[in-house]
This record gives sequence, C-alpha cells and structure tokens, in this order.
Amino acid sequence: MSAASRHRVLSGIQPTADSFHIGNYLGALREWVRMQATHDAYYCVVDQHAITVDHDPAVLRERTLVSFAQLLAVGLDPAESTIFVQSHVPEHSQLAWIMECQTGFGEASRMTQFKDKSQKGGADRSSVGLFTYPILQAADILIYQANAVPVGEDQRQHLELTRDLAQRFNAKFGPTLTVPEAMIVKETAKIVDLQDPTAKMSKSSAPGCVFLLDEDAVLTKKIKSAVTDSDRDIRFDPVNKPGVANLLTMQQAITGTSMAELEASYADRGYGDLKTETAQIAVDLIAPIRRRVVELMSDKGELINLMGIGAGKARVTAGETLEKVYDAVGFVPLPR
Ligand code: TYM
Repeated sequence: MSAASRHRVLSGIQPTADSFHIGNYLGALREWVRMQATHDAYYCVVDQHAITVDHDPAVLRERTLVSFAQLLAVGLDPAESTIFVQSHVPEHSQLAWIMECQTGFGEASRMTQFKDKSQKGGADRSSVGLFTYPILQAADILIYQANAVPVGEDQRQHLELTRDLAQRFNAKFGPTLTVPEAMIVKETAKIVDLQDPTAKMSKSSAPGCVFLLDEDAVLTKKIKSAVTDSDRDIRFDPVNKPGVANLLTMQQAITGTSMAELEASYADRGYGDLKTETAQIAVDLIAPIRRRVVELMSDKGELINLMGIGAGKARVTAGETLEKVYDAVGFVPLPR
C-alpha cells in the first residue's frame, strides 16, 4: 500500500531523561514500530515540551540526540517512517497558537498532568508553557491530520482535548482538521513502578524504573528487588497483587505467552523464580537495544543528518495543513 493511501499515525516522546524506560517501550514505542509497516507514520522527539519545566541546555541537547538514537534502536526505520525532532518543524508552534485561541482557560486548567506538575512545583513557579503544554501536543497531532495516536493510558486526557479542539475548529471554520483516535494497548497501557506498584513507572523514580539503557546487572537487580506482597501464589490480579501482576504483564508483553499459560507455569513455584525469569526476559529484550544506541551515538553527525531528513519530510505535510488552517481562520495569504 502506498503511504498516501494508508491511515496516518503520529506520536511523540519527551527527551526528559537520559534513557527511555520499559513502560515507554511496552506502552508506546513497540506499537510505533508495529504501526510503521501499516501506517503512514510520523514520530517525534518533543524537545519543546521538555522545556516546560526547568532544564539545562547542554543536557537537553544530549538527551534529544540519545532519544532519537533510541527511536532508531528500538526498530523505527527512517526509510519507512518520518522520524524527527519537534523544534525542527516550526509549524507545530504556529498551529499551537491558533489552537490556544480555541481553548477555554477553564478547560486547560482541568488537565490533570498540569495540576499534578504545578502542585509539585508551586503555581508561581509553573510556566505558562506548562499550562499550554497539552495544546502544543494537540498541534503536534493535528498538524499531520493523524487518524491514530498510539500512547499509554496517561495520555488519554490530552487526546480527548485534541479531539475536542479539532471538532470545535471544524465546527467554527469548516472541515479542516482530522479528528484523531487514541490507540491505547490495554494490556501494557500502564506499566507500574517496581518499588511502588500503585504508581505508573516513571523516570523520576529510578529504583522502580527499568531504563532501556540500564546495564544488565543493574536492571536485573531492580527487577529482583521488585516489591510484591506477603502472599505466595502467582496469579494475575492487578488490584490485590499489583507488583506480581506487573511482572507477569511484562513477561506476557515481551514473550507473547498468554496469561493463562504463564499462571500455569508458575503454579507451584515462588516469587524468586518469577523475578529471576522476568529479569532474564527483560535483559534479552533490552541489551541489544542498549548496544545499538551506543553504536548510533558514536556518529552524532549521522544522527543529525537523519533528523534533517525526517524534518524535511515532516515539514511538507505540516506546511500543507498550516496553509489550510491559516486560510480557514482568515489570514491573508501572500503570493508565493
Ligand atoms: P512521555 O514522553 O511521558 O511518554 C512517551 C510514551 O510512553 C507512554 N508511557 C507509558 N506507557 C505505559 N506505562 C508507563 N508506565 C508509561 N509511561 C509513559 C506514554 O503514555 C507515551 O505514549 N505528552 C507526551 C508526549 C507528547 C505526545 C505528543 C504524545 C507530546 N506530543 C503527541 C502523543 C502525541 C508525554 O509526555 O509522553
């Protein structure tokens, strides 16, 4: 099928850590890789979202490069997908302004991620960029007229806002923007923290987080120290046994073994075996990715070259949408 006749997909990931984690991989990135074969796929490292909180410029630059390298290392192919960095495509910010003008102040105030992050940092220390973050995210998606957006559960509310904004824009100015669907893979939509299985796995809690760039021994130790419960039986019960369920989910997601088979295989064995085997399965998945990232990072010139190719492709599509949007809102076009 040609790219033109395929459904389009867009997703993004923040370069806010030295490494992505296994929650990002199982909840989103693995789906991105699968979808590049069937969709006209756009994937970006959202560096502009990463400056909505305090950051160090040198660190951001390095993290953007290593994030891009990880996208390639997990299996995204620049020949199949359009892989790029958000700040290289200025049309995202241009559309974001227009979408900000469609967003109610109260509506933006209800975004839970903003509420969480601003509560942690204090309202006065939160930037306006943090407040408008979800609108830039909406623009990331709408600028490509994406039909589908593969993300984890934590992004659901931002996707709802994106849909609302697209519908509102179309109702006001005529059909212009595609209304996207969230694509959330239920089984892996929320990988939880190894140390606190009531929280989602996130880079901010290193001991409970399996990073794609963790050395084998480090990640083995983290999984072997995972918090479980004082029970003994191994069954998939996310409510009463979230720690055990999380390890089972990771195994199922990585190996493709069904939950029933997994439960049966652990019927007369203990948590020690479950942890050792989950750790081995995770090492087998992650070690080749880590090695590939190291290789890719040894030639930053080539990475930047690939970023340029991706941005060039992205700007063609983004430019087409922006032209339609500018026309719809009544901006006077200059002759070309
Ligand atoms: P980010 O960078 O936090 O996460 C990237 C992707 O990983 C998913 N994810 C998880 N999935 C399962 N279990 C977890 N513990 C887990 N943690 C993270 C996220 O749901 C996400 O899909 N706002 C977005 C970035 C963004 C974006 C976009 C996404 C900006 N523009 C446009 C889609 C489309 C974010 O912070 O993701």
